[in-house]
Amino acid sequence: MTDQPHHGRDEPGHVPMPEPGNEDAVAQVTPRAGDPLPDPGIGTHVPRPSDVDPALERRAERQVSGLFGLATLLTLGFTVAYFAIPEDATLLNSSAMNLTLGVSLGGALLLIGIGAIQWAKKLMDDHEIVEMRHPSASSPEDRREALAALDVGAAESGFGRRTMIRNSLLGAMAALGLPAVVLLRDLGPLPGDAAEKTVWTKGMRVVNDVSGLALRPEEIELGQLVNAEPQIVFANDEGEPLEGAEKQAVKAKAAVIVVRIRPEDITPPKGRENWNVDGILCYSKICTHVGCPISLYEQQTYQVLCPCHQSTFNLADGGRVTFGPAHRSLPQLPLGVDEDGYLIAMSDFPDIVGPSYPTMPQDR
Ligand code: FES
Repeated sequence: MTDQPHHGRDEPGHVPMPEPGNEDAVAQVTPRAGDPLPDPGIGTHVPRPSDVDPALERRAERQVSGLFGLATLLTLGFTVAYFAIPEDATLLNSSAMNLTLGVSLGGALLLIGIGAIQWAKKLMDDHEIVEMRHPSASSPEDRREALAALDVGAAESGFGRRTMIRNSLLGAMAALGLPAVVLLRDLGPLPGDAAEKTVWTKGMRVVNDVSGLALRPEEIELGQLVNAEPQIVFANDEGEPLEGAEKQAVKAKAAVIVVRIRPEDITPPKGRENWNVDGILCYSKICTHVGCPISLYEQQTYQVLCPCHQSTFNLADGGRVTFGPAHRSLPQLPLGVDEDGYLIAMSDFPDIVGPSYPTMPQDR
């Protein structure tokens, strides 16, 4: 291969190539005004062993030819296998034909690729060359001609003169946007405030997420964390448990963790002084980063860790983020006790559950 830069020698930035017989010379570059860094040019060419030793060159040539020859044999093997192997024959618990065809053709392609790389690395000319970019803009004459043609087209079409046609066309084009908007209705009813609500309501019992049994304060020990759900997951208005997609949708937003902390260690945010029951606190189980379920609890420090990206929340301090990429505190569910002595929610979450979104005030 011959080194032929595709530009004139007098162009700015032209990189002169080493002259034949002086290939170790370092190419020099003419610095251009405004270049932030001087172009270091092309380094010294170091010959490869196969460049200077004819025996090594022949060996490399044999290696590459050998790889291409093997590829040819595998391709022939593919053709033979296609006709020779019965369709119902098995090999390694797979179809013998599929396995053989895959291995032979895949192997042939792989060997051709390896051979080409070896050829390029060991035998093809490896002098670096520079090809400067040329401006890609059209010439001023071409641009003038294009604009003139546009003007002629506009004048001939009467687009500016025939205002009734022009305006009715613009109206028709604008109306074309309507179907796109109307078809959005197929996506279902507008979500309203559904993203901000969960199924928790005042008086709904907090139940164990495995057994479905309602939790009593005295059953939760100091330092314990219980994964819980709203009772509706196990018994809806008809007394039936939720199933399938509906159950998953409810659990994805309403799942909670219940912990018991020494009351004197709790530093409740303003207005949340009565949200715990004798040190029992309830928080959303859904990480406010991107929504992984959280349950890795460090009971000495009251920190709960999200396994996805290690966001850490302090449950004794209003679910405040103490580490990691989450941007909002864990939403807290206000707790109370009903007349039968079971833990209940005193309302829905006042904060939005799950990953942050732009309308959310930052309360980190
Ligand atoms: S989802 Fe919890 S830290 Fe990313």
